[in-house]
Amino acid sequence: MGICSASTFSAANSPHYLWIGENFMCGIVGYTGKQNAVPVLMQGLHRLEYRGYDSAGIALQQKKGLGIHKRAGKINVLESSLPKRIKGNTGIGHTRWATHGEPSDTNSHPHNNNDGTLAVIHNGIIENASQLRARLEAHGVSFKSETDSEVLVHLIASTEAASLIERVRIALTDVEGTYGLAVIDAAHPGVIVVARNGSPVVLGIGDKEMLFASDTSALVRHTQQVVYLSDGEIAELTPGAYRVITLDASPSQKKTTTIDWSAETYDKGDYSHFTHKEIHEQPESVLRALRGRLDNKFQTAHLGGLNLQPRELLGFRRIKVLGCGSAYIAGVLGARTIEQLARVPCDAEPASEFRYRNPVIESDTLYLAVSQSGETFDTLAAVQEIQRKGGRVLGIVNVVGSSIARACEGGIYVHAGPEIAVVSTKTFVSTFLAFVLLSLHLGRMKDLSVAEGKNVLAALNLIPQQIHSILDAEPEIERVAKKYAVFNNAYFVGRNLGLAVAMEGALKLKEISYIHAEAYPASELKHGPLALVTPETPTVFVLPDDELIDKNISSIEEIRTRKGPVLAITHPPREGTQQLFELVDDTVIVPKSHPILDPILMLIPLQLLAYHIGLARACDVDQPRNLAKSVTVE
Ligand code: G6P
Repeated sequence: MGICSASTFSAANSPHYLWIGENFMCGIVGYTGKQNAVPVLMQGLHRLEYRGYDSAGIALQQKKGLGIHKRAGKINVLESSLPKRIKGNTGIGHTRWATHGEPSDTNSHPHNNNDGTLAVIHNGIIENASQLRARLEAHGVSFKSETDSEVLVHLIASTEAASLIERVRIALTDVEGTYGLAVIDAAHPGVIVVARNGSPVVLGIGDKEMLFASDTSALVRHTQQVVYLSDGEIAELTPGAYRVITLDASPSQKKTTTIDWSAETYDKGDYSHFTHKEIHEQPESVLRALRGRLDNKFQTAHLGGLNLQPRELLGFRRIKVLGCGSAYIAGVLGARTIEQLARVPCDAEPASEFRYRNPVIESDTLYLAVSQSGETFDTLAAVQEIQRKGGRVLGIVNVVGSSIARACEGGIYVHAGPEIAVVSTKTFVSTFLAFVLLSLHLGRMKDLSVAEGKNVLAALNLIPQQIHSILDAEPEIERVAKKYAVFNNAYFVGRNLGLAVAMEGALKLKEISYIHAEAYPASELKHGPLALVTPETPTVFVLPDDELIDKNISSIEEIRTRKGPVLAITHPPREGTQQLFELVDDTVIVPKSHPILDPILMLIPLQLLAYHIGLARACDVDQPRNLAKSVTVE
């Protein structure tokens, strides 16, 4: 979740040099203690690989001063370039993903100052880097890279104070922008200073050793005791202790959090890919989302973290959902669920668009920010825009303690556990379940009957077992996937909730297999898409056996008339639906649930379909090209 970012410096404000887009979804990690820091850093960098990166580097305190090693390319390129017996008890490491300009050894982090005594790693954008650079150059500083991050090391070098933390603090008072940064100084053995503003930094407290990282995945092998820094905080780490101050030098009292996840959670176990593992984890992740939240007495759901009195919740006349990528699509699905169960008008919008249309924020609208990582820049910016205008925002978030979770006044944790693969699978389903629980909670406060509440609860209880049965049918889905892997374009269609499932199915396919996949409402086929339906363009039809099935069968006939292949994700045949099975080329049959929960069972085959098509096309399913797990830039 590290906020590493693409500099958006334009030619206008950087007349002398090309600013390289600085660190897209990069990761930071560091160690000070009794062990050799090198394996700890390398292991930590490997843990952060899932975020995506194009170069990596480390800096170590060594007997003869600082040693800096950095390389463009994968971490094993860096590893094989390291001297054989490299050692140091204190060090920092970085993975960088540039968005503009070629990644190079020089532009990789860490950066050091002109006499080589300081080393800095940085995620974020230094917005006033041009001005700072000009000022430093006027004082004789020479720059090696084209990055904005390099100004930090020279700026710190230009300050004077007894301690490194004070030098960093003074330097940061001149800095505008976002950062999650770490600094080591040859003159202060064993000390690392880290600072955060808009880019996560988590401290890990070990036994006479201290670590930090941009997310906990890089820490869990060493400790489960962590401290989340807040924006505007600076921390000094030494092997036995840490202290935190704010930018105005006041001490900050921090709380230690114990993280639930062990190192094994971050391993692939018996699976070849995290994507596959996470698809298969869904029976358990669903249970975690539901645990302790189902109320059989009142046939409703308990949601302890909303921090809203029942009367306040009832007072909202509308609900607006915001998120990006899969979180947005989960929001589309969730909005329809809220409308259906709770009868509150609700819609979803991409958070990335929201703040640019000067949105009207209404006091009787409840805003929901949806994010797996809790760090997506655009979603966080939407939260801030709403709060600035006096609106109330709750979060639906997976990562506990993340920026969005902390910015919102309450919310629902989805408890899916860490998701490592770039594409969202188990977190999508758990996020949707959070919406179902909210809809049930709100619905039962309004017009939803006891009987209907009971039906939803009964269906929720069956979901884990039903997911198991779909996972058991994986060989059949794999067979279908191999057949469809040859196409270069695909439509995903559905109606109502099925449309949102189609949207997520299309997104999965394009992310994992690079097949161009477009989602459309079935009702819109004749308004455009049919023009492209040919034997070479298959349609994946999300087809629950509901009140719209006859309309959907007519849409399939329109496609089959144009000889378009159809794969239907549907329910078991019954009298009146047999003709469907003769009409389509392939079917994947899923168990029936409550209509509100059918989307979950219809989506899981689409996740497996995308995964197996991606494999058949030899794609990097866990880390699709050009994508990152957590997009912490605009
Ligand atoms: C990136 C990821 C997507 C994810 C989106 C939103 O684009 O590749 O899988 O859905 O960010 O992320 P969030 O952490 O806010 O859910």
